[in-house]
Amino acid sequence: MNVLETINKRRAYRSLDKTPISDEIISDLVESARLSASCFNNQPWRYVFVYDSKVLSKMHEALSSGNEWAKRASMIIAVCSKKEDDCLIKDREYYLFDTGMATALLILRATELGLVAHPIAGYSPKKTREILDIPDEMNVITLVIVGKHADKIHPELSAKQIDAEKERPRRKAIKEFVYLNKWKEN
Ligand SMILES: Cc1cc2nc3c(=O)[nH]c(=O)nc-3n(C[C@H](O)[C@H](O)[C@H](O)COP(=O)(O)O)c2cc1C
Repeated sequence: MNVLETINKRRAYRSLDKTPISDEIISDLVESARLSASCFNNQPWRYVFVYDSKVLSKMHEALSSGNEWAKRASMIIAVCSKKEDDCLIKDREYYLFDTGMATALLILRATELGLVAHPIAGYSPKKTREILDIPDEMNVITLVIVGKHADKIHPELSAKQIDAEKERPRRKAIKEFVYLNKWKEN
């Protein structure tokens, strides 16, 4: 087992080259998400794997400015769910948590397969629904942009995006988000 190596290797790279997407790759990613834990085993996640070149091109219309780099995707995975499909315990809604966990496993497996799998929030859920025929009641939570990490930095990247390509963006200090035994701000 070497989960740690994959966790360290995973990066939200934006300089992507095209890579073939086979049925085997899709099945492999699906299986990793499928095995994730969920409240009451509700499995609220739904995925649309988009790899047909015509549909992929159509999906360019759904990307926000700043995510031009995602037009080089070999595959885009639309991650969907709705709150009614998972535990609702008083004011606690578990669908986002469970779908996020399943998607994290999928992203780690993609990393292990040598792919970049980069989740984005910068897209139009409405356009995504229209293009992919996703029912209105579904929440389109994220798009995962899949490709191969390019050797060179592509010109559409901003200065900040180029920096992030070279070095992992800074993380909070551990004391800013971890408390031991009791919540205690320093
Ligand atoms: C929910 C979510 C939304 C994100 N949205 C975008 C986005 O719209 N565009 C983008 O370039 N990166 C996006 N990112 C990537 C983050 O910027 C990136 O994960 C973060 O800077 C840390 O870098 P690292 O993942 O390489 O460690 C998003 C990541 C997550 C988890």
